[in-house]
Amino acid sequence: MSRVFSGIKPSGSVHLGNLLGALRNWVALQDEADTVYCVVDLHALTVPQDPEELRASTLSLAQMLIAVGLDPERCTLFVQSHIHEHSEGAWLMECTAAFGELRRMTQFKDKVEQADFISGGLFTYPALQAADILLYDTDQVPVGEDQRQHIELTRDIAERFNARYGETFVVPEAVVPPAGARVMDLQAPENKMSKSEDSPRGSISLLDEPAAIEKKLKRAVTDSDGEVRWDPAAKPGVSNLLSILGAATGRKPDEAAAGIERYGDLKAATAEAVVELLRPIQARYHELAADPAETARLLAVGADKASEVASATLDRARRNIGLLGR
Ligand code: AMP
Ligand code: TRP
Repeated sequence: MSRVFSGIKPSGSVHLGNLLGALRNWVALQDEADTVYCVVDLHALTVPQDPEELRASTLSLAQMLIAVGLDPERCTLFVQSHIHEHSEGAWLMECTAAFGELRRMTQFKDKVEQADFISGGLFTYPALQAADILLYDTDQVPVGEDQRQHIELTRDIAERFNARYGETFVVPEAVVPPAGARVMDLQAPENKMSKSEDSPRGSISLLDEPAAIEKKLKRAVTDSDGEVRWDPAAKPGVSNLLSILGAATGRKPDEAAAGIERYGDLKAATAEAVVELLRPIQARYHELAADPAETARLLAVGADKASEVASATLDRARRNIGLLGR
């Protein structure tokens, strides 16, 4: 069975784009592969964090992942910082990656322009990500298009390490969902949906109340030609609503348009579908949130499973690179 690994950062609320573009796929993969999913709290440290908030959002993200359908019995679900091999592996990766390769990462270049404090960790972030992936002998990494470059770098690092020190790591590949799996901002449909903190009216959080969801969809930007038709280039707003409606009801976006003639009806149908999609997720989330000890227990089980694989891989890497055993 192939091994799948992916990670998600505990920063801000999980939104509809995360669910439809990534998490639903993570859930489905549990039936097909040996899946390992990680809440990457160490990655969140590349920018300054409020300690209490980071702790709370790490726990809450884990609860949300279980609520959307990750089953700790069928997958390995754990918190990155619980497995010290990630930090140690990151050093081996940093020493295998070239400075020039890290400098070329577009995510780093973008962030450098925006941030007023640039940590060393922001620069070496992709090396930590490579460690995450390589520690689990990963075959496939389901990620969004924006992460493709990091997975390419991970492959290069794995190949270079194997060539220098002997066969050590499995060389993984990225699995990127097809176009259309991207959910766009409701107010600015040329941008992808991002955290509600950044775009309060354009983003639907998985924890939004039904009334808030209806309001945001009612106010979603459309266009003036008045025709309900799937055409992302010419009609980004309407097409985004059709993608969301289709994804929420298990249809292709162009099929979701059938029988809907007015924008008002499209918005109402989309709101209803999203509310129904989120209702059981929210109920499960609130149950889990009421019992943090149970989540902690599940994460400890996940950490035990993860530790077994990660420590074996790191031992192999330590030996091959020439570190003295004790
Ligand atoms: P992020 O919230 O950027 O850390 O992303 C977590 C996961 O959700 C990644 O696999 C992203 O590719 C995916 N994702 C984030 N935003 C969207 C979006 N608007 N549409 C589809 N997928 C998304
Ligand atoms: N960098 C990824 C993001 O910003 C998160 C991530 C960290 C990740 N480690 C990973 C994704 C390993 C896939 C595999 O979304």
